[in-house]
Amino acid sequence: MKKIHSLSRIALSAAIIGAGFVNAQAADETIRQLAKERGRFIGTILNSEWFNDAIEPEFEEIHKTQFNVVVAENEMKFDATEPKEDVFSFEKGDKMVKYAQKNGLRVRGHALAWHSQVANWVNDYKGQKEKLLAVLKNHITKVVGHWKGQIAEWDVVNEAVNDDYNADWRSTNSVWYEGIGAEFLDSAFVWAHEADPDAELCYNDYSIEWGLREGSKASFVVEQVKRWKANNIPITCVGTQTHIEIAHETTPQNVRALAKALAELGVTLNITELDIGFPKGSAGNLTEADYAKQGHLYRQFMDVFLEEPNMGEFVIWGLTDAHSWLDDQQGKTEGLLYDKQYNPKPAYDSVMASLKAHPASEVKTPYPDSVLNPPVKCDTDNCDDPIAIKTHTKLSSISMHLAGRTLFVTGLASKTAAKVELFDMQGRPVFSTKNAKGNVDLSSISEGLYVVSIRQGATRFTKRIAIK
Ligand code: XIL
Repeated sequence: MKKIHSLSRIALSAAIIGAGFVNAQAADETIRQLAKERGRFIGTILNSEWFNDAIEPEFEEIHKTQFNVVVAENEMKFDATEPKEDVFSFEKGDKMVKYAQKNGLRVRGHALAWHSQVANWVNDYKGQKEKLLAVLKNHITKVVGHWKGQIAEWDVVNEAVNDDYNADWRSTNSVWYEGIGAEFLDSAFVWAHEADPDAELCYNDYSIEWGLREGSKASFVVEQVKRWKANNIPITCVGTQTHIEIAHETTPQNVRALAKALAELGVTLNITELDIGFPKGSAGNLTEADYAKQGHLYRQFMDVFLEEPNMGEFVIWGLTDAHSWLDDQQGKTEGLLYDKQYNPKPAYDSVMASLKAHPASEVKTPYPDSVLNPPVKCDTDNCDDPIAIKTHTKLSSISMHLAGRTLFVTGLASKTAAKVELFDMQGRPVFSTKNAKGNVDLSSISEGLYVVSIRQGATRFTKRIAIK
């Protein structure tokens, strides 16, 4: 269990304010709101601490106000849901589904057939094909059936392609593949579809952001999707986990190419587990430029996501750097949108800037209205409560307008310095002044579209402008 900080309520409001709630268009200023307007789902996991009420209050407040899709970090996996043979444990998953319903979040289910985090008892049946088929069928039928109509999308099979890039299935250390063979994948999709015909069903894997080269993992996955579609296996989506590092600069465009290849097959591509980590050894020595670079990569992923019409979900594998599997298990650090004190990082601003640079009128959604605005399913006590987004919405005094090449900023508090920054439509910083008093001269800026960000203390304001 990670150490729990005890931050004051003041810090909480600062974090919430910093997350973009205090400005002239407060309700428009969350990732959640902008995602919804664009017919897309952007979210993070609920880290496992949340399920045990062992996480800072900031976590949930930010989580439900900023995002519109949620995934359980571990609590819907095989070992969590069927710890003993045919004895199911749904309490934690139920808690999350209720939370999602109460707060209007879409739920991704993760993950049904995976070689990892399988309950130990399954290994008693190693190599027994018929028994393993029965075990997997029972598991999928009962888990998907339990949340039928409540979980919009499942990772039906996770990480079934091997690591050594010879484009084949993972053939070792997989109780399912070793006992059943590749047909476990096809069957898993069929059983999941039988248990909930309306759920979207994904194949999810890592390293498929490495490009569609001959023999690559991504190319192998695309070939399998072709085969599944040709054989009427009910797959509707692929998830690219995208656990990457700051140096992996080509990955966003690889994801774009993968999206285009899958579009031809009528399949959606989702980014399902994004984190962009720094090497662990760099902790404590990271500079503003490092965080800006991280923001730039986040920005490129969000650009690709919004520009490709068959992309639907963008899920980040954690909310705050205070709770991330990167530090514990990956030798990486600080890969998320919020720092350890729950302050939004430049990566957060980049995601917002990308959303603003892609107006709702230009972003296509792969989902019908019934998916974007599902009927409210809520039978818990407090379902009528307004979600927390309302309680934290305050109006900022800051506003701005552009006259020629001068930006007039009004409503700044007189005592504190305001920082005004300008980003181009690719999210690159093009102008910055730390001590804006009211009028900002932009005569050095070329014609074009930009996003202005104004920050004063914990208050922020962002707006798209056209310089002529
Ligand atoms: C990770 C969790 O974050 C950890 O808490 C857990 O100990 C191991 O699994 N790919 C996946 C996720 O599909 O389920 C993994 O989550 C990260 C890699």
